[in-house]
Amino acid sequence: MPRLISALTICFFLLTVTAVALKADIELPAPQTEGGMSLFEALKKRSSTAGGDFSTAELTLEELSTVLWAASGLNRGETGWTVPMAEGLAPYVDIFLAGTQGVYHYDYKAHKLEEISEENIKAKVGAQSFVKKASWLLIFVENPEVLSQLRNKDAGTEFANVLTGAMTQDIYLVSAALRLGARYIHSMKVDEIKAALGLTDAQRPIAIMMLGK
Ligand SMILES: Cc1cc2nc3c(=O)[nH]c(=O)nc-3n(C[C@H](O)[C@H](O)[C@H](O)COP(=O)(O)O)c2cc1C
Repeated sequence: MPRLISALTICFFLLTVTAVALKADIELPAPQTEGGMSLFEALKKRSSTAGGDFSTAELTLEELSTVLWAASGLNRGETGWTVPMAEGLAPYVDIFLAGTQGVYHYDYKAHKLEEISEENIKAKVGAQSFVKKASWLLIFVENPEVLSQLRNKDAGTEFANVLTGAMTQDIYLVSAALRLGARYIHSMKVDEIKAALGLTDAQRPIAIMMLGK
């Protein structure tokens, strides 16, 4: 009997390891951090792409890598980001991504996409029908675990909203520089997003950014 239990334990372990290994995380290439359009040119070009103007063309991984780095990437060692964080905390807004091939979470430390599911949820998350047309939908979600470390306990919601504004403005500017389409979307289906991303009650979806060509 103890042998049978040991064999079953080993089988369970191997199945778990295999399942984890099969998760199709995406390693992102290094972002573009030099050259390109000037900041002033990008400021002059920044605008929201009309919903109907997004094509079905997909972004390259290089383009996605550069956009995510601009939104929430490390730019100074282990604790300096492209956007300012209240009290110098780690990012307290997570970026989830809904794409044609699945749903992911952006890991800013490893600069990679962690797979959450293989489902295409793009048609489920926006209240406007054109939202699904973008190559990627970036979904900004408050991270209650990191926010619980704030000394200013009452400011979590405000700080998360401000951070989302900074992240999305960086995305607008880098999208202008890379000639990509971008549009901030507030009209979203919160319950569907929470279910599709497997969020807890405390993980509040704040906004969506359409990103495409
Ligand atoms: C807080 C906020 C919420 C927005 N929500 C939506 C939205 O739900 N749907 C939409 O199509 N556009 C939305 N937009 C995009 C605005 O409509 C757009 O920024 C505005 O028309 C100005 O155009 P511009 O960004 O090209 O200057 C939102 C923008 C902001 C800043």
